[in-house]
This record gives sequence, structure tokens and C-alpha cells, in this order.
Amino acid sequence: MSYDLIVIGTGPGGYVCAIRASQLGLKVAVVEKRATFGGTCLNVGCIPSKALLHASELFEEAGHSFANMGIVVDKPKLDLPALLGFKDKAVDGNTKGVAFLMKKNKIDTFHGTATIAAPGKVEVALADGGKQSLESKAIVIATGSDVAKLPGIEIDEQRIVSSTGAIALPKVPGKLIVVGAGVIGLELGSVWRRLGAEVTVVEFLDRILPGMDGEVAKSFQRILEKQGIAFRLGAKVTGVDTSGATLKASIEPAAGGAAETLEADVVLVAIGRVAYTEGLGLEALGVEKDKRGRVVTDHYFRTNVPGIFAIGDAIAGPMLAHKAEDEGVALAELLAGQAGHVNYDVIPGVVYTSPEVASVGKTEEELKAAGIEYKVGKFPFLANGRAKANDQTEGFVKILADAATDKVLGAHIIGVEAGEMIHECAVLMEFGGSSEDLARTCHAHPTRSEAVKEAAMAVEKRAIHM
Ligand code: FAD
Ligand code: NAI
Repeated sequence: MSYDLIVIGTGPGGYVCAIRASQLGLKVAVVEKRATFGGTCLNVGCIPSKALLHASELFEEAGHSFANMGIVVDKPKLDLPALLGFKDKAVDGNTKGVAFLMKKNKIDTFHGTATIAAPGKVEVALADGGKQSLESKAIVIATGSDVAKLPGIEIDEQRIVSSTGAIALPKVPGKLIVVGAGVIGLELGSVWRRLGAEVTVVEFLDRILPGMDGEVAKSFQRILEKQGIAFRLGAKVTGVDTSGATLKASIEPAAGGAAETLEADVVLVAIGRVAYTEGLGLEALGVEKDKRGRVVTDHYFRTNVPGIFAIGDAIAGPMLAHKAEDEGVALAELLAGQAGHVNYDVIPGVVYTSPEVASVGKTEEELKAAGIEYKVGKFPFLANGRAKANDQTEGFVKILADAATDKVLGAHIIGVEAGEMIHECAVLMEFGGSSEDLARTCHAHPTRSEAVKEAAMAVEKRAIHM
């Protein structure tokens, strides 16, 4: 069978690329080795983790915050199988949604493992047996990423888990050790703390959330500590003794020194993810990869082998679903002769904890390192009417603007709904807007978004409510 485009992998990068290409008139096929479409994000990543975050947040609110508002309820009881069922339903609904979209867009789908036999040729070892040879003018590698392993610590997905095991624990662990204070560690650590686990996060660096604005990360750490999460920064887990009923993790200072033992029922390894390209046959084809195993592409998602392209977690850049999706759209448009592109300076990042942490553009640390002069405007939710009305006053908005031109270079928000609010900053930055533009845009009252406007006003020290 012959196609204009074959996409290998149906995560947010792959399925979106396939749909956009089909919209533009290309004849498209996808190959997926999982039983369901949607990749890491829909099956074991974004969607199930957000369902668990949502349900566990409501569980905690019902137990703690309702009474403050005069809503008297009995102490909520946890039905963990039902909560996990709620999460599974969210996954099922989303993955079926992608299957529907494949049909709607007349995309041929093949379930099995793809190997690129040669430029233009894909061999599929079909999931239900047999082989299928496919031909295509263009082949897209959208095979995503896999969990980074900690040497000497074997993930069994029962007691030593990756995020995949951590979204399906059959019992709330009494004690949970999270290795890595990144996005997965803090999101899933929050889920299990809310459900009753005692959570200790062990992080190699001396800060949480590397890459996020330092002031935001510090403030977020304090909030998480208040919620009951313990942090061991500047420390590493060097081994886990699994011989007894309780796990014994050896923790060492990152800089060297005496080891100590921490006990746990479950250890979650969340130290990052690595590009996944196994079995594609890239070595035989001579497709270039970088030191971290990511497929090397140019600005147009082309690998060094003509006709083979790559997007998403399998290539460089932030490992985020929306980054993969935008690359999928851009590549489809390029293949159809249009001018697709991705603006890597404006890719929001959100940590979906409570409160949320959201960021777009440069951090203060990045601006300092680049020698760019900047102004800072900050506004706390404590001074925002809606936040006070709802008794959700933690956090602040921080706007970073170029000292000479006032162009907004970065925005960082910590607070309830930060993940929704960040987008007005993203749109502003996409259009090259200034803090003055944001400050002069009328914002509805009472909304949390008024804190964004006031932070922009604070850049010129004229915030009203502070
Ligand atoms: P993937 O989604 O990994 O999809 C790749 C697909 O390719 C897989 O389905 C795989 O089975 C298939 N495949 C691989 N090799 C082959 C082959 N040879 N033949 C056929 N098929 C193959 N990102 C966010 O933006 N927001 C979030 O809230 C968020 N939460 C996350 C939570 C967790 C727990 C995890 C683990 C990740 C999360 N991410 C989140 C990251 C996000 O999931 C990834 O960035 C995104 O899925 C990358 O998309 P992709 O299309 O590149 O690859
Ligand atoms: P991460 O890169 O966000 O964080 C990993 C953390 O582990 C870092 O703080 C790092 O310093 C630390 N670390 C590394 N080695 C260590 C060691 N040996 N001991 C202790 N700490 C160690 O990776 P994470 O959290 O695993 O997430 C993987 C990817 O998934 C991320 O790139 C992220 O973008 C994506 N993701 C996105 C989400 C979102 O957008 N909300 C949610 C979950 C994942």
C-alpha cells in the first residue's frame, strides 16, 4: 500500500500530524504498537495523571476546605478502586476519541510495531500476527519517549514504580519516596499525599523544578512543605533494598558523604524521560541521533536521511504534549507545501498541582545568563479580590519585560488556575506585546486574571491594589 505520509506513533505529535496532513489532502497512514491510540499522553501520562490530580484535589477539599465555607459534610472516605476507575474512564474516553478522529479523517490505521526498512518503506509486525509492507513519500518518527532508569534500581511497577505504576497503585502507600523533584514527582507525589501517603521527595539538585523561575520554585517548595511533602534536596538515592516487607532506600548527599536509610512502601523513580526509538532500524539507515539518543532534525523536522522526519519527545526540546502537537501541525503543513513553523520561545509549561505553577518564556535566571536587562512586575493573589473571595490567595504573578523596549520576555504564575491564566501572556508574547499592552487591556472583575494585568502594571510600579 502506498501513501503520501506514514506516521509511526499516535501520541499527541503523531496523531495530530496525521489529522492535519489528511485535512490538507495527503493520503495518510499511522502505525501504533499500543492497543489504543494517543501515546504516552493519553494512555499513561497527561490524561490519567490529571484525572487523579482532579479527584484527589476534590477529596482533600471536601475533607478540609468545605467547612471553612460553611459546608458541613462527613469526613470523605476514599474508594480507591472507584477513583482509579474514574481515571481509566478518562483514558478510555480520550483514546476512543482519537480512534474516532482517525476514522473521521479517513486515516488508515495499523496496529503493530513499525520498522523503517528503507527510505519510503515501512514494515509493520502486526499486533494480531503477520506482516504488512507499506510505502510512503514521507515517514514521520513520532515514537515519543520512555522512563529514564536509575542505575542499579530496577523498576518492577509494583513497589519500585515509574509514573506508569504510580498512576495505578492498588493501595495508598503508607510511605512514598519520590526520586526527582520534577514535574512527575511533584504531581504524582501530590496525588498520593492527598490520598494519605507520607511523601518524601529526594532531589539531586539543591532546588525543585529545574528550569522553572527560581523565585517561583522556592515559593512553590514552601507551599508543598506546608501541605506536608518533605524534601531532601542535594541528595541522591543510590540503591533500594527490596528484601524485606518494607523497602529500604539508601540516600547519599549529592556532593558525597555518609549514606542514610529511608524506609518506604513504594519508591517512585521520576528522574526524567529519554527519547524512544528502539526497533525502528535507525542505525542501519544511518539516521543521526544526539548524545541523549534524540533524533537530530533541522528546522523543518528533516533528519539527515531524505524522506524521514521526526517530531515530539523523540527530538530535542521540552517533552510536552502541546510542543509535540504543534510540531505535528507544522510538519504536516510543510509536507503539504505550506509554511508551518513552531515558536519555541513561547511554549507554556504547567505543573498541575494545587496551586498550579505556569510559565512561558524566559526565567530571571535565563535573562541574567543572557545579559539581557529586564524589569520585573509582581502581584500577589493575596491582593486580588476574587482570590480573597474564594479564600485561594496563595501565589503571585510575575511578568518579566525588556528594560529598553518593554516587550514581555517571560511570565510566571503560581496560584489556582495558573495553567489557564498563562495563555493570555502566551498570546501577548506571540504577538510581541509589551507589559504596557497587557496593563492597558481591560480585564473582567472579579477574576484571578486581574492579577496578570496588575503584575503588568507593577512593571512601571503603578499597580492599583498593592
Ligand atoms: P508519545 O505520546 O510517547 O507517543 C509515542 C507513541 O509511539 C506511543 O504510543 C508508542 O507506543 C508508539 N511507538 C513507539 N515506537 C513505535 C513503533 N516502532 N511502532 C509503532 N508505534 C510505536 N505533557 C504535557 O504537555 N502535559 C502534561 O500534563 C503531561 N503530563 C505527563 C504525565 C506523565 C505521567 C508523563 C509520563 C508524561 C506527561 N507529559 C505531559 C508528557 C507527554 O506525555 C509527552 O510529551 C507526549 O506524550 C509526547 O508525545 P509524542 O507524540 O512525542 O510521543
Ligand atoms: P523532570 O526532568 O521534570 O525532573 C526530573 C528531576 O529529577 C530533576 O529535578 C532532576 O534534577 C532530578 N534527578 C535526576 N536524577 C536524579 C537522581 N539520580 N536522584 C535524584 N534526583 C534526580 O522529569 P520527570 O518529572 O520525570 O518528567 C519527565 C518529562 O515529562 C518532563 O520532561 C516533563 O516535561 C514531562 N511531564 C510534563 C508534565 C506537565 O507538563 N505537567 C507532567 C509530567 C511530565
